[in-house]
Amino acid sequence: MSLQEQVIHSFAERFGTAPTWVVRAPGRVNLIGEHTDYNDGFVLPLAIERAMWLALRPRTDTVVQVYSLDFEETAVIDLDTLQHSGDHWSEYIKGVAWALDDAGYALHGWDGVLVGDVPVGAGLSSSAALELVTARAFVALAHAPWKAATMARLSQRAENKWVGVNCGIMDQMISAAGQAGHALLIDCRSLETESVPLPPETAVVILDTATRRGLVDSAYNERRTQCETAAAFFGVPALRDVSLEMFAAKAHLLDETTRKRARHIITENARTVDAAVAMRHNDAVKLGTLMDASHASLRDDFEVTNEALNTIVAISQQQPACYGARMTGAGFGGCAVALVQAEQAETFAQAVAAQYAAATGLQPQIYISLATDGAALVS
Ligand code: GLA
Repeated sequence: MSLQEQVIHSFAERFGTAPTWVVRAPGRVNLIGEHTDYNDGFVLPLAIERAMWLALRPRTDTVVQVYSLDFEETAVIDLDTLQHSGDHWSEYIKGVAWALDDAGYALHGWDGVLVGDVPVGAGLSSSAALELVTARAFVALAHAPWKAATMARLSQRAENKWVGVNCGIMDQMISAAGQAGHALLIDCRSLETESVPLPPETAVVILDTATRRGLVDSAYNERRTQCETAAAFFGVPALRDVSLEMFAAKAHLLDETTRKRARHIITENARTVDAAVAMRHNDAVKLGTLMDASHASLRDDFEVTNEALNTIVAISQQQPACYGARMTGAGFGGCAVALVQAEQAETFAQAVAAQYAAATGLQPQIYISLATDGAALVS
């Protein structure tokens, strides 16, 4: 049974009727443009097949009653008296409700069933998928139009202020606005997007190292602070505003760590814009080269990789079918992404899995994913 069938089936079993709506919101993988979003820069992610699904029907009161098939438990939320209660999965739903209410949306209660297949904690944005599936549901209930960028901002606000994670806008934006068959070049300052097709006969392969790092939040926040320090040094609102020439002229005045952090962001923004150009020209070779360079910069300058990520990327890059590979997401563990020849994707996946397992003793999860649409009502 597909996840869509599962939520519909389970909804009927629990509530005795068919759901009024089924909503889907995807996870994401980022092709290039890492740690640039909170520097007002460019990112180039795509929405993946793995997603969160929600079947629901309106209620006449202000209660949300939602059963999670994954956690096998029901959360009951009263929209009139939203309160924090620890770090439960339902905090994402409450956070989105809080942010929408605060922005003036009329909130309605609902009964629902949730299920998802975005692995939690792997760096594929299961939280953004949960936030956007929730936002899409509330907007449907309010009979309001879907404004992807607005909903991404509100979901990010939920995550920053309600859940307490200081993320940028990328994950929410791609989950809200993804386009099938395309990656999205997102300008994280204006939130303008441009969809760019994946090069023909290529496949995007997601490689989960099976490593997770605990202190991601503090390391992430430290990088953000270092970037802000560098922007202040250059006298601009964000590193997005520093060109390669400005950097070259003044970089020697920065301390080594700040200089390396800034160099990553400034070169990564340039690579991301170049990557979108390469994609428009169907140039998989160029795109792959930029991905390889991005990894080196994240490893050496931004210092957010770990041994497992470096190993799986190096093994991927050695495969004949691989155009390029890099870590993806926040880093410190989690996933890498590779662009490979489509007809060789399975062979590539098997070879990388075997060589990575031999080198590290870890069993990677490997997903070959098409690019899908962002959050939508599917029935
Ligand atoms: C996490 C954050 C994003 C982004 C990436 C790094 O996924 O949620 O906002 O900063 O890390 O590119």
